Amino acid sequence: MRVLGIETSCDETGVAIYDGEKGLLGHQVHTQVAVHAEFGGVVPELASRDHVRKTLPLVEGVLRDSGLRKQDIDAVAYTCGPGLVGALLVGSAIGRSLAWAWGVPALGVHHMEGHLLAPMLEAEGPDFPFVALLVSGGHTQLVEVKGVGRYRMLGESLDDAAGEAFDKTAKLLGLPYPGGPELARLAEQGDPTRYRFPRPMTDRPGLDFSFSGLKTFALNTLHEAQHAAGEGGEASEQSKADIARAFEDAVVETLAIKCRRAVRESGAKTLVLAGGVSANQRLRARIQEIMEKEGGRAYYPRPEFCTDNGAMIAYAGWQRFSAGQHEPLLFGARPRWPMEELPAV
Ligand code: KG4
Ligand code: ZN
Repeated sequence: MRVLGIETSCDETGVAIYDGEKGLLGHQVHTQVAVHAEFGGVVPELASRDHVRKTLPLVEGVLRDSGLRKQDIDAVAYTCGPGLVGALLVGSAIGRSLAWAWGVPALGVHHMEGHLLAPMLEAEGPDFPFVALLVSGGHTQLVEVKGVGRYRMLGESLDDAAGEAFDKTAKLLGLPYPGGPELARLAEQGDPTRYRFPRPMTDRPGLDFSFSGLKTFALNTLHEAQHAAGEGGEASEQSKADIARAFEDAVVETLAIKCRRAVRESGAKTLVLAGGVSANQRLRARIQEIMEKEGGRAYYPRPEFCTDNGAMIAYAGWQRFSAGQHEPLLFGARPRWPMEELPAV
């Protein structure tokens, strides 16, 4: 079975084709960085309009790259939540319409399930059961995964998501959108011993997270550095890099501590890291280290499948279509959608 996947939940348009026997046949991602950069963050209406412009050309492009015609597609999967409602509606409407015109079934996929299953696109992917750390711009979740749709939430962020904290801290350091990767780049120049930021909520039991205090901690540290620079002073580039490094270390260590706790409590030997922040090299290295010490193994997607893409949606859709899941023609976007509500396959 060949599934066309369409992702339009936020600021990337992604399209891919996944074949149950041959694996991924093609994928393309168009990023909206240029559209939103001057505003310092995602402007939802501009995101929707750009998805309207880009989705169909990407579908044509991926069909061409894969040497396929529309008759070769057996099913269409599209992200229908969670995300920006206008953006979701573009992908949902296009996905549904193509499927109807081509006479094939269509299915709305949960964006975070897409992230969660993305490491399985790799040749040596994880096997169930595992614990997953999902870290994106909108979510920070530790999930016990027994199979597709068999999810139990172990912990999540009570305020800002990890990616959101990266983006907001990057902004206050004067870095351009998209902040996370920019902050990680600046942190490379930082001195890890200059500042020490707290590891929120690690001194009490439980697997929930809170990242909004770290952003305030970064702001206060920046103000101190400005103050030290004298009247009307600017913090030096080195001070900003040191703050970036201290912030990154605090987020990475906090996530790592909770992952170790989740693995120990659940007895899992496999940890899966996914979502945009899983592209962070320091986080990947630290999780790898922890899992080796625990006598287990860590899996993550290749960097291009950490951030939003169509391949993970095509793959999640393929899993559900293969299990015989169907949906009626009626469709809608689900901007808020708890992953635990998904049916098991
Ligand atoms: O999964 P994703 O592409 O979109 C959502 O579903 O939200 O995640 C985007 C998030 C952004 O907050 C971005 O700053 C963050 O992932 N991100 C990173 C890195 N690459 C992307 N954060 C830290 N380090 C990175 N290298
Ligand atoms: Zn995402």
